[in-house]
Amino acid sequence: MARKKVIAGNWKMNMTASEGAQLIADLKATCGGNCCCCCAPEVMVFPPFTTIAAVQEAAKGTPLVVGAQNVHWAANGAFTGEISAKMLVEMGVTHVIIGHSERRQYFGETDETVNQRVKAALAAGLKVILCIGETLEEREKGVTEAVIEKQVLWDLADVSMEQLDNVILAYEPVWAIGTGKTATNEQAQAVHAFIRALIEKHFCPVCAGKIRILYGGSMKPANAEGLLAQPDIDGGLIGGAALKAADFVALVKAASATC
Ligand code: 13P
Repeated sequence: MARKKVIAGNWKMNMTASEGAQLIADLKATCGGNCCCCCAPEVMVFPPFTTIAAVQEAAKGTPLVVGAQNVHWAANGAFTGEISAKMLVEMGVTHVIIGHSERRQYFGETDETVNQRVKAALAAGLKVILCIGETLEEREKGVTEAVIEKQVLWDLADVSMEQLDNVILAYEPVWAIGTGKTATNEQAQAVHAFIRALIEKHFCPVCAGKIRILYGGSMKPANAEGLLAQPDIDGGLIGGAALKAADFVALVKAASATC
């Protein structure tokens, strides 16, 4: 069965509530009658926590998925600054990004805490976009595959085959994020194929066939078609280009063209 493509915008720490609502209005206007949200790929946006409600309101009546950028593993408690799965679920959030490299790099997240977050999110019924990827230093040392295998094994430890249905993976080479430097189609495809083989080895062949693996790292209209045409690339997790309605819609259209 063909895997449905996903175009997901990670807004990072951008867009106040009013700016986010405006971006959704711009997206709808850019799509015209043929709303991007009705095209073949699943289209998702991940605003900051404080912008989610306004974006949900602005996106009402469209199939646009509105998700969150992180979630804590505890149900509640003394964890200043954190947000629980229950809080997200109660406000109608269905998807959450976990393990983004910026969380790992700047906020001390480890494979262990990423795994705890993944398990809590899945147990609460959330769908997870789990981010993995190597740094430039790791790529240059030739340890990309080892790094990816460790992340897949640790981050998905104790996740069942059934739960894996609610996981989307995002391969985001750290050296390509926000740098304008994209992995080539061949570099990205090679790692995506490796990740799919890991899922086959550690979960099951059917799981490997079903799981969607997105590419993230300076994806933009100019390079999207080539990346999205690769057999193991099932969509994109987009930062900078998701903040401009015209670019984001162009990416949705590129994904539709390669469906
Ligand atoms: P850029 O598209 O800005 O490189 O960011 C990618 C990313 O980190 C998405 O999560």
